[in-house]
Amino acid sequence: MPMSPLLLASTRRRFLQSAAFGAALFSVRGLFAEELVRTPRQTEGPFYPDHLPLDTDNDLIVINDSITPAVGEITHLSGRLLDPLGKPVRDALIEIWQVDHNGAYLHSRSNNRDKRDQNFQGFGRFLTGSSGEYYFRTIKPVAYPGRTPHVHFAIKTKGRQKFTTQCYIKGEPGNARDFILQSIRDPKARNSVIVDFAQIPRSRIGELAARFDVVLGFTPES
Ligand SMILES: [Fe+2]
Repeated sequence: MPMSPLLLASTRRRFLQSAAFGAALFSVRGLFAEELVRTPRQTEGPFYPDHLPLDTDNDLIVINDSITPAVGEITHLSGRLLDPLGKPVRDALIEIWQVDHNGAYLHSRSNNRDKRDQNFQGFGRFLTGSSGEYYFRTIKPVAYPGRTPHVHFAIKTKGRQKFTTQCYIKGEPGNARDFILQSIRDPKARNSVIVDFAQIPRSRIGELAARFDVVLGFTPES
């Protein structure tokens, strides 16, 4: 039986929409494939916590139900975990760790461990969902002897060894002298780990926001 003209028109429109969508997807993928800079792998360093905190959630400012928050400039640190084609990576465990405002890690051999801020969690975890997005509430990292401020990242995905890197603050004078940061030879790769820690407009307590996307050099198993 011949299709009514009306039905034919609507079927055709639907087909055009889906074709246009397919074309858009294709060109976006092509663009990502050319433009995404893979996040350089950097050393895990010696200060991954040797005893995990009681609380390992993504809020490093408050441990469990404590009423006393950590000291430091509150920072909302977020970003997306992507594969080389720009596709979000889900079900990845992202861990961060960093020093407190006194430059102390959650580690028994840390500098200043006797002055460690007992209210700072020092370490946190986030499991990515379908958008690949992650989020932590933490403090703006500070320098410690020998290093410019940085946040350590470990990314654990199925069937792969963990990927470790570090993220840095744009405009920090110590960046130019930091041997780990400067050991990333390719300027594009080096710049990809240096991000703005920007004041949040109208935040009454001067909170900061930072976005750090991590682009893996591989597509994890699903
Ligand atoms: Fe470090």
